[in-house]
Amino acid sequence: MTHQTHDPADGILSLEPEVGPTGRPLREFPEPKRLRSHGPARIIALCNQKGGVGKTTTTINLGATLAEYGRRVLAVDFDPQGALSAGLGVPTHDVPTIYDLLLSRAIDPADAIQQTGTEGLDVIPANIDLSAAEVHLVTEVAREQILASVLRRVAADYDVILIDCQPSLGLLTVNALTASHGVVIPLECEYFALRGVALLIETIDKVRDRLNPAIELDGILATMYDARTLHSREVLERVVDAFGDKVLETVITRTVKFPDATVAATPITEFAPEHQASKAYRQLARELVFRGAVA
Ligand SMILES: Nc1ncnc2c1ncn2[C@@H]1O[C@H](COP(=O)(O)OP(=O)(O)O)[C@@H](O)[C@H]1O
Ligand SMILES: [Mg+2]
Repeated sequence: MTHQTHDPADGILSLEPEVGPTGRPLREFPEPKRLRSHGPARIIALCNQKGGVGKTTTTINLGATLAEYGRRVLAVDFDPQGALSAGLGVPTHDVPTIYDLLLSRAIDPADAIQQTGTEGLDVIPANIDLSAAEVHLVTEVAREQILASVLRRVAADYDVILIDCQPSLGLLTVNALTASHGVVIPLECEYFALRGVALLIETIDKVRDRLNPAIELDGILATMYDARTLHSREVLERVVDAFGDKVLETVITRTVKFPDATVAATPITEFAPEHQASKAYRQLARELVFRGAVA
């Protein structure tokens, strides 16, 4: 029998262990054990100052798949665009939002938490008001630590809190990093993906130095991957060269199903549970539990 090598472009089966897109052997991470008790939450910021890289999509679908595995998940919309809130189908007007919690200690954060259509996945919404927060917070005492103090009040009820950051490295994002135990950086497999990542890592390092010594980089998540294009594969190769094992083995493929799920205001894992993208997000949830980033 001839010895064939695997070429992702033509789908020929290999006789050697199949290698995944990050160059490591493909594997299924084990099903997480059911938790007997819940909390306190580990807090993870989904962060990249570039827009359109999959932060919100990942927050929604990672949140939904962790909830499928029995984790209690709180997703925090920390982008004035409110895409996370919209994607989860919760109202953002005439309800308390994350902005109100940042500005007033008198509001109980529990009153801003809304349930979603996904059992086990709750959300604190945001709306355009949040765009004024940076200006208001500048004069506050310990202005970088305000989100941390808000989330401390609800952390006991959750296993994981996911913060969907806005696309900037301003005071809101510094608040998110200061509040977090870990950071996941979604990175689009496109040219220039790495541009800006050095600045992001530098910001995380500064936050670790000055505000939050415990913060860890939990992983870099390649998104919008297209195995058929050479440039997608090249970009991923460069990302792995630069960050090694920090690159998560799970890779999210580019698929047109995401915009459909967005319109349906539901996680893709419920909109199309057997879709390859749903399976990828389940694999991501299992990988993060396997790596210890989530209980
Ligand atoms: N894997 C994917 N394949 C195709 N489209 C995607 C994928 N992930 C996200 N999208 C779409 O790309 C757009 C930007 O994604 P989003 O998660 O909102 O990025 P960010 O929050 O980083 O700005 C959205 O319209 C979303 O539906
Ligand atoms: Mg977003």
